[in-house]
Amino acid sequence: MARERWSSRTIFLFAAIGSAVGLGNFWRFPFLTYKFGGGAFLVPYLIALLVIGTPLLILEFALGQKLQRGAVGSFRAINSKLGGIGLAAIMAGFIVVVYYVVIMAWSLLFLVKSFQFPLPWAGDSESYFFGSILNISDSVGSFGGINIPLLISLFAVWVAIYFIVWKGVKSVGKVVMITVPLPIILLIVLLIRGITLPGSFSGIAAYLRPDFGALLSTEIWTAAVSQIFFTLSLAFGIMIAYASYNKNNQDVAGDTYITVISNTLISLVAGFVVFSILGYMAASTSVPLESVVEGGPSLAFVVFPQALSLLPWAPLFAVLFFLTLLSLGIDSAFSLVEAANTAISDRYKNPNTSKIAFFVVGLAFLLGILFVTGAGLYFLDIVDHFVTNYTLVIVGIFESIAVGWVYGADRLREYINSVSKIKLGRWWNVSIKYVVPLTLIVLLITQFVRDIVTPYGGYPGWALAIGWLTVIVPVIIGIFFCLTGSWNKK
Ligand code: PHE
Repeated sequence: MARERWSSRTIFLFAAIGSAVGLGNFWRFPFLTYKFGGGAFLVPYLIALLVIGTPLLILEFALGQKLQRGAVGSFRAINSKLGGIGLAAIMAGFIVVVYYVVIMAWSLLFLVKSFQFPLPWAGDSESYFFGSILNISDSVGSFGGINIPLLISLFAVWVAIYFIVWKGVKSVGKVVMITVPLPIILLIVLLIRGITLPGSFSGIAAYLRPDFGALLSTEIWTAAVSQIFFTLSLAFGIMIAYASYNKNNQDVAGDTYITVISNTLISLVAGFVVFSILGYMAASTSVPLESVVEGGPSLAFVVFPQALSLLPWAPLFAVLFFLTLLSLGIDSAFSLVEAANTAISDRYKNPNTSKIAFFVVGLAFLLGILFVTGAGLYFLDIVDHFVTNYTLVIVGIFESIAVGWVYGADRLREYINSVSKIKLGRWWNVSIKYVVPLTLIVLLITQFVRDIVTPYGGYPGWALAIGWLTVIVPVIIGIFFCLTGSWNKK
């Protein structure tokens, strides 16, 4: 059967941008910027984007498009003993999607609760989130039972994802026409609301005020690199899978620049939205800004809802905000599922796409139940830490070595230049062969030392061991598969 195709280049770009743009832009980027020296953080961020993110995204687009296969098939085509790199990438992505969709389930529940006045969390958004929504237990050791409303919400999000991916790129292509522009429009609405509020400018000033002294810490650099990986959806096998549905003469370098620039602009805008509204909250409650800024789940589910509840027309903006989160997240979530589906479909001559999707979605839903227990948030935090700081980085190292040294950076660059308007210089080879793997190795070691010195989040050893498993299992299965694996059933 002929390989499926995106119906146009625009649709492919929408899908790729949709995968890149997600919660990472909205809650990770603004917070990291604020934490690491404001405007000064843009320096390591842009450097990491240029020397690591962009070259790797070019690599992933080129590989998938040239070899016309998903992650596993592409690495096997480089060398039959390398398929494990793709498999490890897919497994990392699968682990991420299991908890990423749980975060979307929180958003959905919040969305449903937003249709009332006054908002139910007005006054105490913190106990609302941790108590009423999560029903969190007092420690990672006590499971506290399954949270039924969250379970239903999780199920609903998965059903939606299933019907988006069930016909492969044909159905995905239709959906991204809506789910990619929608959050951008919503962000613009929130931006206008944000910057017209009293106090917004002090928030924005705090967000961007550069503290160049921060550039001297190593942490800012490692934070920038891991943010780049996460935000561009690198090393999950997604971009390889998506590009494999292009015709093999599409402008790879051009596609990369468009994706990278859109993603960066959206991150910056998201920062303006978040900080203008936090500035308003600080001004109207006369609580200093430093004490309202938080990263991660607390920003989106405690601080921001609190700020929204202070606005005139609060429920309207709460609805818009949670719709933004859901529409931002959904493309990232189904891209992760699609990466796995593509790799599995590649094994068959006539893949039954909807059956494969059913299997992947069903398994991810079942595993997600762990994260809707009372201890769910703790597990989510642990798994997120280990997958994003280790598994991805390890995949990135092997990916760049496999292409740079085994396949040949020059060979892939020749292909890229044969299809791209803007030609890639030799710097790309240097980046893929040396800069990317070496930087990632340094990153891995620094992170490892940090984790050994101070166990992450003060969790008990057995809980952290589960985190380590999310690193070790994909790596071992990947290695095992490299040694023995055969993928095709054709
Ligand atoms: N890039 C997405 C974001 O910024 C997250 C994501 C990571 C999506 C990995 C897919 C794969 O939120």
